Amino acid sequence: MTTPVAVVGAGLVGAGWSIVFARAGYPVRIYDGDAGIRSNVMAGIRTNLEDLQSFELIESADSVLGRITVCDTLEDAVDGVSYVQESVFETIPVKTEITAALDAACALDVVIGSSSSGIPASAFTENLQGRQRCLIAHPVNPPYLVPLVELVPAPWTDPAAVQSVHDLMTAVGQSPIHVAREVDGFVLNRLQGALLNEAWALFEEGYASAEDIDKTVSEGLGLRWSFMGPFETIDLNAPGGVADYAARLAPLYHTVAQSRTAPKPWGDDLIGNVEAERRTDLPEQDLASRREWRDRRLMALAAHKNKASKAIGD
Ligand SMILES: NC(=O)c1ccc[n+]([C@@H]2O[C@H](COP(=O)([O-])OP(=O)(O)OC[C@H]3O[C@@H](n4cnc5c(N)ncnc54)[C@H](O)[C@@H]3O)[C@@H](O)[C@H]2O)c1
Repeated sequence: MTTPVAVVGAGLVGAGWSIVFARAGYPVRIYDGDAGIRSNVMAGIRTNLEDLQSFELIESADSVLGRITVCDTLEDAVDGVSYVQESVFETIPVKTEITAALDAACALDVVIGSSSSGIPASAFTENLQGRQRCLIAHPVNPPYLVPLVELVPAPWTDPAAVQSVHDLMTAVGQSPIHVAREVDGFVLNRLQGALLNEAWALFEEGYASAEDIDKTVSEGLGLRWSFMGPFETIDLNAPGGVADYAARLAPLYHTVAQSRTAPKPWGDDLIGNVEAERRTDLPEQDLASRREWRDRRLMALAAHKNKASKAIGD
């Protein structure tokens, strides 16, 4: 019998995490401080599971749903679990309060992973008795469609706790990476930030429209990025591999990097101009349906990747 997992905070990300664990066969106990969220969360999860079933990404929405229980108290949620995935609001006071409550409520061998997008674990675990079992396990939204999880220890996190979350994430079909020590934005948002900062700058300087900058990724770079990263990309883009690529193009990239030595904040006028172009292409009232479209595209991509992996044999 698989040991239950607790998910604390049942918003967008917490609900998504409950699907990840339950889909893999783990009993899941969800708790949220908001009674309204507790009442409604299962309906949203059911819709997500039915979509997953329609893309043949799970066999039965009902059987996955049957493994998820909503609890009325934090203590009920963590009773007898081996792992807690905290997914509450992204502020230091809220993270500090909930992690202290979890530290008090959980047996000492229970590992506590936080979904924090950017607040490092050292900012809210320093004074806890069980601070060695706390770390960041940062997902991508929605975690049941995008498998990456960044594991980021605080200076006092026990390496065994990191390893146990790595093993759990692998067992449930996620793809963990290890960030050796705390850094703003971890790895994912630093990479995303580098691309976004360049996109804003190119737009501001009038080199291309927002639509064409987006197209450069959706019709260009992003096609490879859905199955390989930047290092493997360049390793395959020169006959002799990465060193050969560097010999040919390192000077160009150095020149590009030198042209951006003074990062600027995203200014209001700039944001307004991108917003104006985006709202012309996608009116505000269509944002929600476009998000649903994005999730269906992600499901189709996940289904394709499963089939392609089997067909290609990797
Ligand atoms: N949304 C994303 O794209 C995304 C991606 C990766 C990580 N994250 C991170 O995941 C976490 C949750 O984000 P979200 O987008 O699901 O937010 P959300 O606002 O949708 O959900 C947060 C939930 O936490 C609950 N909550 C707040 N304080 C609580 C407490 N003390 N006890 C119990 N429940 C409490 C709220 O009622 C709410 O339902 C944040 O740390 C966020 O940065 C978000």
